Amino acid sequence: MSHVMNTYARQPVAFVRGEGVWLWDEAGRKYLDALAGIAVNTLGYAHPRLTQALARRIQSGVIHTSNLWRIPDQEAAADRLAEITGLDEVFFCNSGLEANEAAIKVARKYGHERGIAEPAIIVMEKAFHGRSLATLSATGSRKVQAGFEPLVSGFVRVPLNDLDAVRQVSEHNRSVCAVMVEPIQGEGGINVSRLEYLRGLKEICERQQWLFISDEVQCGLGRTGKWFVYQHAGFLPDVVPLAKGLGSGVPVGACIVGGRARGVFKPGNHGSTFGGNPLAMTAVVTTLDTIKEEGLLARAARVGEVIRGGLAALDGIEVRGMGLMIGVETRQPCGELVKAALDAGLVINVTADNVIRLLPPLVMTEAEGRAVVDRLLPLIKAFADKRAAA
Ligand SMILES: Cc1ncc(COP(=O)(O)O)c(C=O)c1O
Repeated sequence: MSHVMNTYARQPVAFVRGEGVWLWDEAGRKYLDALAGIAVNTLGYAHPRLTQALARRIQSGVIHTSNLWRIPDQEAAADRLAEITGLDEVFFCNSGLEANEAAIKVARKYGHERGIAEPAIIVMEKAFHGRSLATLSATGSRKVQAGFEPLVSGFVRVPLNDLDAVRQVSEHNRSVCAVMVEPIQGEGGINVSRLEYLRGLKEICERQQWLFISDEVQCGLGRTGKWFVYQHAGFLPDVVPLAKGLGSGVPVGACIVGGRARGVFKPGNHGSTFGGNPLAMTAVVTTLDTIKEEGLLARAARVGEVIRGGLAALDGIEVRGMGLMIGVETRQPCGELVKAALDAGLVINVTADNVIRLLPPLVMTEAEGRAVVDRLLPLIKAFADKRAAA
């Protein structure tokens, strides 16, 4: 019996070696990775730049010092994040939920500074923001919340892509101080916000002086062909929580603020022992520099088109997403496809019961993208045929 707590339904496979977008299991079987550890391994596996930078960092002996001292790589990472986001201040933490906790705290403090006694944040149906008490309360999934009541108060839920619902809240609720949205919902099933909707939401935020929080933990950092999804819509949010792909596999998160959220946190308002430590910051600087220098934004857009185009050949199946964030909705629950794909040497995920989710490393080539399609198409066809015959 394993002593690992039973919180995940795991597949009985262990990956022990990786190179590029390829993984090998304990028996030496080779797999094409179209999941990147759920949007984490941005640079794939064993990228020489990351391996060498991390090795140098470890050999220096200084992988952690605490935030009581200056951390030069943290300053470098913050400079780069300010440049690519267009925002001003970066708080480093260790995960996506922590980035969102920081965002929620910024919003509440901003609300209090505006004289709101019990600030509220508008959140979306089917959203996923994490599993701490505040972030699971912001999450729009009963499955995630059940058993953990009482939930944290101060969230008002509306459907995604419905501006009228937000307008109605703005007319009746004087306690709202922010809107929090995943521009492309990941766990919820690759649900894409219309760019017009995001722009409309931003306009309401401007009018009401609310913060716009763009949770780009899963969809951000180049995956959609631009650094961030809000850049497709052409405006600046006030708060951007990040994690997952930021360190290419080294745990790290960041909450980046600008606009109305700038200067809200003062010394003593927030902290993290590990957040922004030299090991994680070396991973961030190297990941961001490599994305830029290897042209991985353009590549994500191109390879994404190859994969989405290839999968669109299937009748009766909806293919959604942008760049290398792709969802394929099947008519029936399709969790069994994860195992079928592993048997075919392909790593995928299924979310929201019936959405095949692909989040490959950004280093994937067009030929490898075609190989994903070649391995996945027959599996989806066989699944649909089996269900039609049942
Ligand atoms: C959009 C989004 N926000 C937040 C989180 C939480 O991140 P973490 O699991 O690192 O706490 C996730 C994780 O899936 C996510 O997809």
